[in-house]
Amino acid sequence: MTIVVKGGSVVGTNGVDSADVLVENDVIIKVGKNLTGDITLDASGCHIFPGFVDLHAHLREPGREDTETIETASRAGAKGGYTALIAMPNTNPAHDSVTVIEFVREQGRKAGLLDVFPSGCITMGRQGEALAPLAELSAAGVRIFTDDGSGVQDPVLMGRAMQYAISLGVTMAQHCEVSALTQGAVMNECGCSSDMGVPGWPAIAEEMMVQRDIEMSRITGASVHFLHLSTARSVDLVRDAKAEGLNVTAEVTPHHLSLTQELLTTFDPVYKVNPPLRSMKDIQALKVGLLDGTIDAVATDHAPHARRDKELTLDQAPPGMIGLETALGVVLSAVDLDPVQIAAVMSRNPARIAQITEQHGHNIGVGDIAHLCVVDLGATWQVDPSKLASKSRNTPFVGRQLRGMVRSTMYRGQITVQDGVAQK
Ligand code: DOR
Repeated sequence: MTIVVKGGSVVGTNGVDSADVLVENDVIIKVGKNLTGDITLDASGCHIFPGFVDLHAHLREPGREDTETIETASRAGAKGGYTALIAMPNTNPAHDSVTVIEFVREQGRKAGLLDVFPSGCITMGRQGEALAPLAELSAAGVRIFTDDGSGVQDPVLMGRAMQYAISLGVTMAQHCEVSALTQGAVMNECGCSSDMGVPGWPAIAEEMMVQRDIEMSRITGASVHFLHLSTARSVDLVRDAKAEGLNVTAEVTPHHLSLTQELLTTFDPVYKVNPPLRSMKDIQALKVGLLDGTIDAVATDHAPHARRDKELTLDQAPPGMIGLETALGVVLSAVDLDPVQIAAVMSRNPARIAQITEQHGHNIGVGDIAHLCVVDLGATWQVDPSKLASKSRNTPFVGRQLRGMVRSTMYRGQITVQDGVAQK
């Protein structure tokens, strides 16, 4: 049986070409004009991208299946145009054993809506005290390690992890937060936080760890990825490190590109995230960094939370917002990216950083596994919370007008989403 994705513009590394894409089983067998197949997936007026890859998704299984499961997150991801997710390790139990890694991978396989690649913990239980069995986890296929949710505070431990990164050929991804500087913090440290009388999360708490890990990457040569950068100075530090040729990469979230600290003056915990929303100046610097290639990727930091938890007071509520289904729309509403740039930051670069290029993030070419998404870049839409596939609803984007809509997604040659509707 063949499927033709018809009437769209195929996005490649150097430009965009009007072409149909013919898929048989799970493989692209032809890209060209006037193709026909047994089934037609309409892409007229749309761009056909390589399937998106999210470097940063909290799937909550095992441990908090009341807020998300690997299946519901996979469906949310497919609706967002994703064909691969990197699962963050702060589950319960955490991703510090081969058993948990295999469980997460297997749940992803069972859902069958996209590829789930579990990250591994850097330290046991993400406690920052002893290294996780990095070699064992790497032998089980883990390519990217992080304690996300918290940063590795101890430089001795982080230095050792980087030595392992070199010998194992894996990447260390850092949540940059010097926790001694962020005790009790609920938002960016700024005029608003003083006026509100709440503890602030200063920019320097992020920048000190970015700087430390750049220095450590210089000494060790390890590949270091900076998660969810949020400050202008962090962008400058990474830009300078890249100019020196150091082995560092970085990501930014849709919310850090589009929302400012002033929203916290409502005291609404839906805006509480870690790192916090920052100033307009920071947003401008993040946008420049994304456009000039300092920041390699957009990553969602999809962080589902139960309503009863997010309805606590600002100091009590956990940080995070969901993002898989709104990522493209939020980013394109904030930053003017052309189709080639979108393919780079949403698919090719994250696949490279996560070391999954054998399957994801390629140009759309004959012989490749068919991971595609069909996007109407001109369409505007509003988030309807009743239509979200995620189990949680903690998003501030409900009711906002977004530009750029994922129409359909294909994963391993199967249509997972058609005209915005999940197919299973
Ligand atoms: O806002 C966040 N939420 N940032 C993190 O680093 C963790 C995440 C979560 O797991 O909820």
